[in-house]
Amino acid sequence: MEVLIVENAAAAAMVGAGRVAELLAIKPNAVLGLATGSTSIAVYQELVSRYRRNHISFANVVTFNLDEYVGLISGSPQSYRSFMDRELFDHVDICIENTHFPACHPGDNPRLVGSEYEAKIIDAGGIDLQILGIGRNGHIGFNEPGSSLSSRTRIKTLTESTVHDNSRLFSENDFQPHLAMTMGIATILEARRTVLFATGKHKAAAVRDAIEGPLSARCQASALQLHERATFVLDEAAASLLEYKDYYQWANAENEALMREFGHFYELQGF
Ligand code: F6R
Repeated sequence: MEVLIVENAAAAAMVGAGRVAELLAIKPNAVLGLATGSTSIAVYQELVSRYRRNHISFANVVTFNLDEYVGLISGSPQSYRSFMDRELFDHVDICIENTHFPACHPGDNPRLVGSEYEAKIIDAGGIDLQILGIGRNGHIGFNEPGSSLSSRTRIKTLTESTVHDNSRLFSENDFQPHLAMTMGIATILEARRTVLFATGKHKAAAVRDAIEGPLSARCQASALQLHERATFVLDEAAASLLEYKDYYQWANAENEALMREFGHFYELQGF
C-alpha cells in the first residue's frame, strides 16, 4: 500500500488529478471508476481545470461510478448521475454514452442490474483506476459494515449513520433513499489501481482501521490491504491516528528517489 500524507484537501486533490492525468497520458482510453461525495469534488474540480488548460482530454475515457441511489426519480439533483454531471461530465469532453451507473429504475430487478453492470465493466476491459472515498464507518462505495468482502454489484441497505451523513444533501421535504446499488468489494479489488481520498479529522478513525486495523468486514476499506496497488491520499487530519505515519512519509521519500532513478511507477508497474 502507498500512503501519501499531504498538507490539506487542496494538495490531496492535486495528487489525485495528477494520478488520473498520468494515466490518461499513457492510456487516453482508460476506464475510470468514479466516486461521488464531498471529498471527490476537489479532485473533479482540479481535473476540470486541467481539461480547460488543454492538459487532459476525456474524449475516449469510459467511466463506471461506484454506486447510485435506488428510488429517486430520474434526473433528481441528488442522484449520483446528476452529481457527476454537475461536478465533472458537463465541463469536459467526455461522451455521455461512455459514462455508466448501476442505476436500478422502478420495476428493474436489482440482481439483474448488478450482474449486467459487472458484465459491462468486463466488456470495457476492466477498471484501470478506481477513485474512492471512505465513510466514517469505513465503507467504500456503499459497502456498509458487515458486507461480504467477496461482494459484487448489488442492492444494499444503508446504515443509519450513512443516511444521517448524507442527509445534508437532501432538504427536509425530499425523499431520501435508504437503498443503493453499489459495486462490491470484489469488484473494487479487481480495478488495476485504487486511489482512496480522505480528508478531515472525522475520517481519522476509519482511515486508521482501513490501513492499520485487521482485515475485517467491520471496516470495508480494510479490504484494500489485499490490493497490490492501493494508494491512500490523506490530509494531516485524516492521517492523525496512524501509528506508522512517520514511516509512510519516509517510505514515500525513498520511493520518489527510486522513481527518479528508475522511472515513473506507471512505467515500473505497468497497466
Ligand atoms: C459515494 C461513495 C461513498 C463516499 C463516502 C465518503 O459514491 O462511494 O463511499 O465516497 O461516503 O463521502 P464524503 O466524501 O462525502 O465524506
